[in-house]
Amino acid sequence: MKLSVIGCGYLGAVHAAAMASIGHEVVGVDVDQRKIDALSKGEAPFFEPGLQEILAAGIEAGNLRFTTDMAEAAGAEVHFVGVGTPQQKDGYAADLTYVNAAVDGLLPYLAEGDIVAGKSTVPVGTAAGLAPRVSETGATLVWNPEFLREGWAVKDTLDPDRLVAGVPASAEGERAADILREVYAPAVAKGTPFLVVDLPTAELVKVSANAFLATKISFINAMAEIAEATGADVSKLAEAIGYDERIGRQFLKAGIGFGGGCLPKDIRAFSARAEELGRGESVAFLRQVDEINMRRRDRAVQLVVEGLDGAVFEKKVTVLGAAFKPHSDDIRDSPALDVAVRLHGLGANVTVTDPAAIENARRIHPQLTYVEDRDEAIRNADALVLVTEWDEYRRQLPPEHASSLTDGRVVVDGRNGLDAAAWRAAGWAYYGMGRP
Ligand code: UDX
Repeated sequence: MKLSVIGCGYLGAVHAAAMASIGHEVVGVDVDQRKIDALSKGEAPFFEPGLQEILAAGIEAGNLRFTTDMAEAAGAEVHFVGVGTPQQKDGYAADLTYVNAAVDGLLPYLAEGDIVAGKSTVPVGTAAGLAPRVSETGATLVWNPEFLREGWAVKDTLDPDRLVAGVPASAEGERAADILREVYAPAVAKGTPFLVVDLPTAELVKVSANAFLATKISFINAMAEIAEATGADVSKLAEAIGYDERIGRQFLKAGIGFGGGCLPKDIRAFSARAEELGRGESVAFLRQVDEINMRRRDRAVQLVVEGLDGAVFEKKVTVLGAAFKPHSDDIRDSPALDVAVRLHGLGANVTVTDPAAIENARRIHPQLTYVEDRDEAIRNADALVLVTEWDEYRRQLPPEHASSLTDGRVVVDGRNGLDAAAWRAAGWAYYGMGRP
């Protein structure tokens, strides 16, 4: 099928390349010339395992191309909209500027029978607001939320847990659902659940899934706070409650909390939208989820201060990690980088290292010192702080090796990823999150 993808960021670039990899003819459109130039050469503009390969294959095969010219979207049967919906500068609500611009920019090129499939995460009710404009052209607006995780984006796009199609209650809506089934034919053939719902449900599925995940993380981080007051070990607690299938083990890793381009802004936008709907109290708990999450960053900083006996000024603190999670170069709302910045603010001599995110981090926080080589970064550190659980820091850094690089013996494990007993046995003062 002929498809267009408007917006070539984390979501759109992966979607375009993945759709080409299953045989569709795809054009990706973005306003950012630099991004388009890179993508057109088959180069991934960000770190995402597997993306480079499918991009290059699609470009080479000739069924994937990228452009800044919206007119080239004309002729596609389905137009996916995957532009960003960041948090507004002066509030919690989502900024819909890019979604509106993408849909309005597309209107002149739509033909009778085309499908416009929104993929961006939007406040519930957005699709209903956009639909009349799209209908005037003879096209149909549907919402097809995306649940991909960074670092697993290619796999999650090609082999998702579920597909959700929000369509209007009409013959056009039914037809649109059938067309989406055809787009995702390989996944559908594998038996991937394909849910056809109405537009507001589709929009809500995405925000409520993210709200649930954020709540799960903050729940275990709240337990970490209680563990800290009682001498309990939150890691063991998570393991024990996780054996209950109704609870499950995933997303129960206590640490410095969640960040990234989705969870933080999505729970805030959800709160803001609920307020607008007069249902603020229904999701009032999301404020606390956010507050617990932010408190864990303070806790990590506090542990460094404690470890250094209250004197962080001019001490060398090496921060292991900058990305908001491993297998990503994304530093949007990264708790890791926030911890580094806060320590810098206290007068520490902060050195940050990360296998993928240094370039992005340096652009936003040039005041920090960045060292690419892990061992060089650790050399002569008074304290180490693990904030992104890359294997390089978690599994592949034996404490004895760290001891050979520095006389400092303080390690703060912001992700509870280290073997506490091994570090203690090697002479280090180990501080975990919610662990004795
Ligand atoms: C998330 C959702 O998982 C995905 O479905 C949605 O489409 C977009 O948002 P992503 O932002 O890529 O994906 O990251 P995810 O893997 O969910 O991790 C989010 C944050 O939570 C990271 O900062 C991670 O370190 C943190 N986290 C995750 C924890 O602190 N503890 C956990 O147990 C799990």
